[in-house]
Formats: sequence, C-alpha cells, structure tokens
Amino acid sequence: MKLIHVVGARPNFMKAAPVWSAISRMTNFNQILVHTGQHYDRLMSDIFFKELRMPIPDYNLNIGSDSHARQTAAIMVKFEELVNEIEPDLVLVYGDINSTVAAAIVCSKLLIPFAHVEAGLRSFDRRMPEEINRLITDRLADMLFTPSKDGDDNLIKEGTPKSKIHFIGNVMIDTLVRLLPKADKPNEFRNLKQYILVTLHRPSNVDDPKSLQSIITNLQNVSKSIPVIFPVHPRTKKMIADNSLVITENINFRLIDPLGYLDFLGLMKNAMTVITDSGGIQEETTYLGIPCITVRENTERPITISLGTNQLIGKDYYKIPDLVKSAINSPKRSNTIPPLWDGKASERIATVLLQHNNKNN
Ligand code: UD1
Repeated sequence: MKLIHVVGARPNFMKAAPVWSAISRMTNFNQILVHTGQHYDRLMSDIFFKELRMPIPDYNLNIGSDSHARQTAAIMVKFEELVNEIEPDLVLVYGDINSTVAAAIVCSKLLIPFAHVEAGLRSFDRRMPEEINRLITDRLADMLFTPSKDGDDNLIKEGTPKSKIHFIGNVMIDTLVRLLPKADKPNEFRNLKQYILVTLHRPSNVDDPKSLQSIITNLQNVSKSIPVIFPVHPRTKKMIADNSLVITENINFRLIDPLGYLDFLGLMKNAMTVITDSGGIQEETTYLGIPCITVRENTERPITISLGTNQLIGKDYYKIPDLVKSAINSPKRSNTIPPLWDGKASERIATVLLQHNNKNN
C-alpha cells in the first residue's frame, strides 16, 4: 500500500511522527511524507523534524503564509498535481489546520481515500477557522481516528457511519510519552524553580491589539510575584511590533523565541501553571497534571476540563492574576489521564490500516 502523510504546521509534526514510526515498524507500506510549507521558519518547523526523528519530507510544497483562501487554494493546486503523480492508495491528514482541509478536498475530488487523525473534535464555534477545517475534513473523510469518545459522539450526531469511526486515542500523547524522559528546561532557565509558562496565537486573542494589550498587562501583573516565560508565536510577535504594544521586559517577564519540542516540554512539565490558547497544550497539561488556564471561550477538547486540569476564562483576562495565585496556592488539582492516552494510539492506527489493507487485497 502506498501512503501519503500530509503535514503543514507546528502542531501536525508531533502527531504525524509517531504514526509514521508505528507504520514503519508494523507494516511494509510505502510511506511518503509531504510538507505543505504552511509553517516554514526553522523554529516553527525544521527543529521538530530533528527532535521528533521524522524523515526529511519527500516533497515540500513551500506554500508559506497568506490569507486563508489563498493559502488553502495554493496547497490544493500543488497537492493535486502531486497526488496525480504519486497515485497513493491512502492519504493521512492531521489536526485542523488549513493544510488538513486542503488535502482533504483534493483527495475527495480525486476519489483517493483519506484518513483524518484527530477527528470528531468540535468547539461549536464557527468563528474559529480551525472549526471550519474540522467540519469539512470530517465530513469528507473515509476513516476517522478519534482521540476521545466525545469525538465519536459528535461524529455520530452529524450522521457519520459508525463503521468509519475508530477510537484509537491521542497520538500527540504518544510523542509526549516517548520524549518526556529526554525533555528538560533550556539552559537559561535551568535554575528557575517556580514560573508560569505562556503561549498565545489565536486570532481571537492576538489580532485585536486591545485584547492582546490587556492580556499582556495582566501577565505583567502576574510577573510581579512569579516569573513568566512567554515563547512568542510569529503571529503574536508581529501584532506586538505592528501595534507598538506596551511591554516592560524585565528579569521576571521573559519574551523569548518559539521553542523546540524538548525545551518546551521541559518547561511545561516543571511549570506551576500554563496559560495558553493552544489546542494541544490543553491536552499535554492534562496528561502531565499541570494546571492550565485556557484563554478561550470554548474548547474542542472538553475532556481536558471534565477529567483534566483545564479551565476556560474566555475574554475575562482580568481573572488571570487571581487564577494563577489560586493555582499556585491550592494543592495540585487531581487529574485523570483520559482513556487511550497511553502512548499506543499510533500502533492502533497501524493495526486498523493493516486490517483495511488485508480486506482490500
Ligand atoms: C496555524 C493553524 C493553527 C495552529 C497554529 C500553530 C490554521 C488555520 N491555523 O495558525 O490551527 O494552532 O498554526 O502554530 O491552519 N508565520 C511565520 N513563520 C512561520 C509560520 C507563520 O512568521 O513559520 C507568521 C506569518 O506571518 C503568518 C502568521 O505567522 O501571517 C500566522 O501563520 P498561519 O500559518 O497563517 O497561522 P497560525 O496562526 O500559525
């Protein structure tokens, strides 16, 4: 069987790496890796391939940044040519980014079966571009690999046949389980015992200068009592620069470049609290039992609230200092690791693909 994996942006890499590895260990499928180039900076892309021991992509479509329509369309044009040339038996797409939905549409129209890894998640908020990507991708997918049972429930409610849905667990946790022992704080923070870790990049928080300024002002308040480490996403960095936001950098408020996987995981596993608007970090903190304050009005990952350590604060940015205080002062919130977040999700995908291949031969 000839398989294409499509990856494009930072959160795809830690999901595709373990699936690639499980398939190469458990099958003799011919695997081809396509990078759309949606993320292209060394710190947003290359470093992950090295750390996650991913092969160098066989093809890079070098798409880069653009508006949603232009970026998605550019990926579709180039990916269609590639699929016509390679003629794969199956394509694997990951997560909810523009590269995911672009590849999904191309495959559907060329009648190439495709599987969606991380299917069924819903924020029920169509203002989020990722929600649109999830809805379209899942609607078209031939195989849907879900990370949690709420994903199955959402898909069934939308009319997806049960036979297409496979609850296999969380592939991103496979990478975390494998690399946790190797992850450590970067050298410059090695002696720091207590700190808060922050990531922000959602358009709803960072594209409006007033919102971003308010978040930053609240984080600066927090940094008066505990150091704040903030690796800044390129989108956020641009907004800070373009709008000349007021930031007093000091030893307790550290804006740094985006980090590689191992450095970031090292900081996350030792943090007192994480403040984020990312999807994946809500899951990683739940697994690690680290309190997570999510600066969003909703989440497509409700299991991180019902079983994990996550809480949503929406746009109530003023709540950040008090919530940080109570997270630090109260005993560790008990967390349960969600079912099948056990480091073996990718092996389950490989098993399903083997069965699929045997049935078709
Ligand atoms: C994308 C994904 C989002 C994911 C996030 C992780 C979509 C719709 N969004 O959002 O789901 O959580 O990646 O990072 O697919 N830029 C660089 N260098 C890069 C990449 C981006 O400088 O390597 C800058 C560009 O100026 C661009 C901005 O960051 O305008 C945003 O990049 P883009 O890929 O459009 O979306 P993200 O916000 O990164």
